[in-house]
Amino acid sequence: MFSLKNRRVLLTGATGGIGQAVTKSLIERGALVVGSGTASNHTLLLEMEKTYNGQFKGIQCDLSVPFSEIDFFLKEAEKKAEGTFDTLIYNAGVTADKLALRMTEKNWMDVITVNLTAAFLCCKAVLPEMMKSRFGRIIVTSSIVGFTGNVGQANYTASKAGMIGLMKTFALEAAGRNVTVNAVAPGFINTKMTEKIPEEVKQEFLKRIPLGKFGEPEDVASAIVFLASSEAHYITGSTLHVNGGLYM
Ligand SMILES: NC(=O)c1ccc[n+]([C@@H]2O[C@H](COP(=O)([O-])OP(=O)(O)OC[C@H]3O[C@@H](n4cnc5c(N)ncnc54)[C@H](O)[C@@H]3O)[C@@H](O)[C@H]2O)c1
Repeated sequence: MFSLKNRRVLLTGATGGIGQAVTKSLIERGALVVGSGTASNHTLLLEMEKTYNGQFKGIQCDLSVPFSEIDFFLKEAEKKAEGTFDTLIYNAGVTADKLALRMTEKNWMDVITVNLTAAFLCCKAVLPEMMKSRFGRIIVTSSIVGFTGNVGQANYTASKAGMIGLMKTFALEAAGRNVTVNAVAPGFINTKMTEKIPEEVKQEFLKRIPLGKFGEPEDVASAIVFLASSEAHYITGSTLHVNGGLYM
């Protein structure tokens, strides 16, 4: 069950907490993964290539300048994969938190560009080949706060809510060619992104999580692997929430 043998996956944000767990799960199920990270992740990408011995190819990219970057990024990624991709997991993401009244144009654009504009361009770039071959899986990583809103995150919540509309539209437009498009929406997951949150705020969150614990990157990876698998062939336009019951 949930085999990904012979699948070629393009994964953005492969070097992050969730991305590394996703990489491991995809490779365990037989996929070839081309995973991206920023230039500062160069060494980590090389280490991951070594660990996964041919099943992982690292690629640097800067998704904060997507209009100039995406076409080149995809071509380079296809060279590394020695073929086109049947699966895209758009998982790269950034935050730049500030109360809305203090949020600058730059704070807004930095987050919207990486989380939403680049997601749109990546989906658009991989889709023609998927549609041609009449098979494809696209999964985007949204967030619980795209559904609930969150103090200090007008930019991030807008990007993650926008991603849901984007995902549904691509799902509608690609369904006729057997390409499914879905989202995962993690809640509070133990990674570097959440390390920055003050301890007392974390404890307040914890009290509100019905399952009584924070999630681990592997919990998100399992949801992504499921949506990427053949078993999920009748699911499109959906969001799989991975949040311990914090939002239902
Ligand atoms: N950790 C959580 O609790 C949580 C909750 C909800 C949603 N998410 C989402 O899950 C995804 C992964 O989060 P994470 O916790 O692993 O974060 P992380 O900070 O550990 O990893 C972020 C990844 O994005 C990549 N990235 C950042 N800026 C980039 C840029 N300009 N160009 C190319 N790549 C760039 C980084 O290289 C890294 O691989 C993100 O989209 C995040 O918004 C995380």
